[in-house]
Amino acid sequence: MQDNLIIFDTTLRDGEQSPGASMTKEEKLRIAKALEKMRVDIIEAGFPIASPGDFEAVKAVSGMIKDSTICGLARALYKDIDCAAEALEPAKSSRIHTFIATSPIHMRDKLRMEPKEVIDSAIKAVQRASKYTDNIEFSPEDAGRSDFDFLCKIIEAVINVGAKTINIPDTVGYNLPQHFGELIGNLIKNIPNSDKAVFSVHCHNDLGLAVGNSLAAIINGARQVECTINGLGERAGNAALEEIVMTVKTRKDVFTCDTKLDTSQIVHCSRLVSTITGFPVQPNKAIVGANAFAHESGIHQDGVLKSRETYEIMRAEDVGWNANKMVLGKHSGRNAFRSRLEELGITFENEEELNKIFSQFKELADKKHEVYDEDLQALVSDTVQGREERIKLLSLKVGSETGVMPEAEVVLKIDGQQKSANAKGGGPVDATYKAIEEMVKSGCNLQLYSVNNITDGTDSQGEVTVRIDKEGRIVNGLGADTDIVIASAKAYINALNKVLDKRQREHPQQI
Ligand code: KIV
Ligand code: ZN
Repeated sequence: MQDNLIIFDTTLRDGEQSPGASMTKEEKLRIAKALEKMRVDIIEAGFPIASPGDFEAVKAVSGMIKDSTICGLARALYKDIDCAAEALEPAKSSRIHTFIATSPIHMRDKLRMEPKEVIDSAIKAVQRASKYTDNIEFSPEDAGRSDFDFLCKIIEAVINVGAKTINIPDTVGYNLPQHFGELIGNLIKNIPNSDKAVFSVHCHNDLGLAVGNSLAAIINGARQVECTINGLGERAGNAALEEIVMTVKTRKDVFTCDTKLDTSQIVHCSRLVSTITGFPVQPNKAIVGANAFAHESGIHQDGVLKSRETYEIMRAEDVGWNANKMVLGKHSGRNAFRSRLEELGITFENEEELNKIFSQFKELADKKHEVYDEDLQALVSDTVQGREERIKLLSLKVGSETGVMPEAEVVLKIDGQQKSANAKGGGPVDATYKAIEEMVKSGCNLQLYSVNNITDGTDSQGEVTVRIDKEGRIVNGLGADTDIVIASAKAYINALNKVLDKRQREHPQQI
């Protein structure tokens, strides 16, 4: 008999805690829409008390999403719970997720509370949340390093007052699959009222074991997993949604549960999250990496041609790889263009915006024969990003020749005023960044620069990711173009705009 595994996505909350991954409300809405389309059961949209931006984002997601439950995080404090309830008010279906640390080190050094006080706070938090909803989740933070008997006590107490989901976080990614699986099995076995709640897990990836630990927990009775797209998350990240879901589906001989996820949306969601946050996906990443289904060796290719099961355990199209190969070209009309965008879940504020992106698409189609979905995503990101940007790139000219120092001439519009500057540099990108800096004078420090091709072929757009930091505040920027120096300029300007944007929180969800 198969039972349901609940997919709880926390890309918009824990995922956003990755350095530089902070998202605007509009960006969160785009991701939430894609998660809903993929049929994620629960979307943790943020931590409403953390900042006005987070509150507004949770409220906006709550107002827009109809088919997934929207969850808001709250410490075990009345003010957090009231704030989460207010942000979730517009949601058709909502959940309050409250947490308090239970490991000896957290209780003693962080909370400075006695274990008895921690249990009292947890009970009061769940009782407070039950004023607003009966869909309440409780997490004993750092459960992976907590005392087993204490965990049993606090969990039994919160179930008694109405917690319906008990989430066991391995907050610091310390656990090993066998032990973590046993922990979940033993909690379910030893807590007298465990049958009144769904047991969930939330694993961090500090030792690279987040997915392994989550799967061991499922085998031992967990029926909800908390995960993020591409494994995005604080430090080494959270458990990757796509890896958990595809393991459960592929190894039906081991797993007795299944999800209702539409896996054909996985690659689309992965690209969207990567584009918005500026976190590229490594080519050899399972399921969503560019090489995940590429067979290089002759023996493998020969085997796959004879019978694909010889070397393939999943079909690329099942996770959306080949679905995204719909090609548009320079002769494609506006209607084909619009309907492809609709299929990708992309909507526009008005016709003017659609016209703008259509003419950018035509320009791109002139430069490269075939325009793929990935190209469209990048174009749309440029347009959406550009809506309220203070700095815009008007033109860029670079000279690069062997034996001569490269030079760049950049024209920008800054707060409506046109400015230009020339600079020389070690390479064309260095020269371009120096010219931009001369005008913007941001004083930012470039921490990371990387370039990837968006699609196959030498005519592909290059996607540049940069990470800059200004006095400890880290932001990522992304830019795409068939010319990688222009893509580099766009990425840098995108990051600078985030630094200047008051809506971008300095430290999302850190309070
Ligand atoms: O990692 C963690 O412990 C968390 C909790 C808030 C669930 O993110
Ligand atoms: Zn976490």
